[in-house]
Amino acid sequence: MSEQTLSNLMQENRRFEPPADLAANANVKEEAYARADADREAFWAAAAERLDWGRKWDQVLDWTNPPFAKWFVGGTLNASVNCVDRHVEAGNGDKVAIHWVGEPDDDARDITYAQLKDEVSRAANALTELGVRKGDRVAIYMPMIPEVVVAMLACARLGAPHTVVFGGFSADALASRITDCEAHVVITADGGYRRGAASALKPAVDEAVAKTGDLVRSVLVVRRTGQDVDWDDSRDVWWHDAVDSASAEHEPEMHDSEHPLYVMYTSGTTGKPKGILHTTGGYLTGTSYTHWSVFDLKDDDVYWCTADVGWVTGHSYMAYGPLANGATQVMYEGTPEKGRWWKIVQDYKVSIFYTAPTAIRTFMKQGREIPDGYDMSSLRLLGSVGEPINPEAYVWYREVIGGDRCPVVDTWWQTETGQIMISPLPGVTAGKPGSAMKALPGIAADVVDDDAKSVGNGNGGYLVLKEPWPAMLRTLWGDDQRFKDTYWSRWPGLYFAGDGAKLDEDGDIWLLGRVDDVMNVSGHRLSTTEIESALVSHPKVAEAAVVGAADETTGQAVCAFVILRDSAGDGGEDIVEELRRHVAKEIGAIAKPRQIMVVPELPKTRSGKIMRRLLKDVAEHREVGDVTTLADSTVMDLIKGKEGSASSED
Ligand code: WT7
Repeated sequence: MSEQTLSNLMQENRRFEPPADLAANANVKEEAYARADADREAFWAAAAERLDWGRKWDQVLDWTNPPFAKWFVGGTLNASVNCVDRHVEAGNGDKVAIHWVGEPDDDARDITYAQLKDEVSRAANALTELGVRKGDRVAIYMPMIPEVVVAMLACARLGAPHTVVFGGFSADALASRITDCEAHVVITADGGYRRGAASALKPAVDEAVAKTGDLVRSVLVVRRTGQDVDWDDSRDVWWHDAVDSASAEHEPEMHDSEHPLYVMYTSGTTGKPKGILHTTGGYLTGTSYTHWSVFDLKDDDVYWCTADVGWVTGHSYMAYGPLANGATQVMYEGTPEKGRWWKIVQDYKVSIFYTAPTAIRTFMKQGREIPDGYDMSSLRLLGSVGEPINPEAYVWYREVIGGDRCPVVDTWWQTETGQIMISPLPGVTAGKPGSAMKALPGIAADVVDDDAKSVGNGNGGYLVLKEPWPAMLRTLWGDDQRFKDTYWSRWPGLYFAGDGAKLDEDGDIWLLGRVDDVMNVSGHRLSTTEIESALVSHPKVAEAAVVGAADETTGQAVCAFVILRDSAGDGGEDIVEELRRHVAKEIGAIAKPRQIMVVPELPKTRSGKIMRRLLKDVAEHREVGDVTTLADSTVMDLIKGKEGSASSED
């Protein structure tokens, strides 16, 4: 969203107050903010009491060695017990945990908490049989089927940190993640259903495993589509052979509160993805508390988060948060083909719906006739996540999907924060289209200038977090130094989120997008540097520069500028397609540039730094800005001359 549009909409000053009935029965009331301010640790300790602990903690927070936090020190618990067993023991075994909906019509399954408990126990036994021990890492590369949740919880039960890799990532990306966290076991499926067809997953695993030497010992494979797969008897095991025959009894061990729960790789400002490490007690406290408070969860709600499990939203607000709260939720395998989502809302009487702005904008383009054809009166609350939601999309979401009765919670957080940090509380805080409003109780956020001074109301700057929070990342897997450098070195004692933000006159927070070399495409985080590395790894490419250009639907789109090697000549007719395919192979289809321009030069400063700002001007079809710091100010004319000459979109 441009500054211009934003300020126009801010001036409109629309504001939606919490509906009276919601306000009266809200899980969390206004007093929570003051209570948390008065004693932050006591506040989070009360939130942790919502979980079942084997042994209670001795100390809420150890922050003596920042930025390395320890939460609920000395406490022990088991995440899978908190997500399943305890609900069964409380007499809710027959409650549906997951209404699973496959992409092919009539392919659906309901899984109760009792069934989930048995399945997780079986899977834990099967993994033990495959040699998985506490502390071992397990890679998961799966479609959106119930087994992925079972696999995650089984790992958590054993204390074996999982690393879920999004099924849209390439074999190369999978291999580098397996290698980085040294996983000996991979859990996958033959394939899954996307966009009306079966797509394969196992071949990418085979390729990835081959690239990692003899690291991977076993591959556990769910049969989802029935397609043919290559099979290596010494390594591959069918899920239905290993899990179905295993015992449904599994005695869980209580793990230390700080025991690693999972590693989630995300793009940073360098070429190498960062392994964000989350641990057990604080993470489960933060995710379950925020899922309960931000969505004002009630016992009879049907909750649906549309995120893929391969991203952090799928971890915190599909797997761990809702299950720890004993919620009933919908899980859908496929893509949002026209009307399908709304049919699911209608069929399952979804009451809480959580999705990304990019999806909302896509539906807006298709027109309101489609959602208007369904009965969505069950909805009572809508959430948004992943990127700034432009006020037009917010208002459309509220009116068309929410029938003007459902509050919208715009939730700001990150893979690193693990839990929602900035969001309205639907029964307490008003909503303003385009604003995530304020830090949740127990969270200290601010907007500061270059000198770390609060900018004050009415001003913009950098978003920072001033106090540790339970679900915060603990480090980057195997790289404490990079953890410090990336988040904590810009200003001592402050966590730098990488986002720009503005405080309005009321002190409410408006997120303005990343201020670093990270792009946000359809709510997915991509690194400019990572895509540049992928491009220059192609034999025909000498240099590459990538920028995120504003895009009406996806928020940002990947735009690349490449210089070809002399030996490549003009690269040949299909050079743009060839390079796009190469990026898809190196990283995954999500990273494919929307546009690639073959250029003779790149704009560089005298010290050789590429001025991406100028390239962004070109990609967004703007007048090119100040070029006085360029080593050669005529370069931009050469690039502008090429505009439109070599682009490709799909
Ligand atoms: C980045 C984190 C949080 C799970 C999904 C993305 C952007 C996220 C919002 C929001 C404005 C948002 C930020 C953030 N972002 N939510 N509600 N409003 N921006 O997780 O891949 O770790 O990306 O997404 O730029 O830094 P992620």
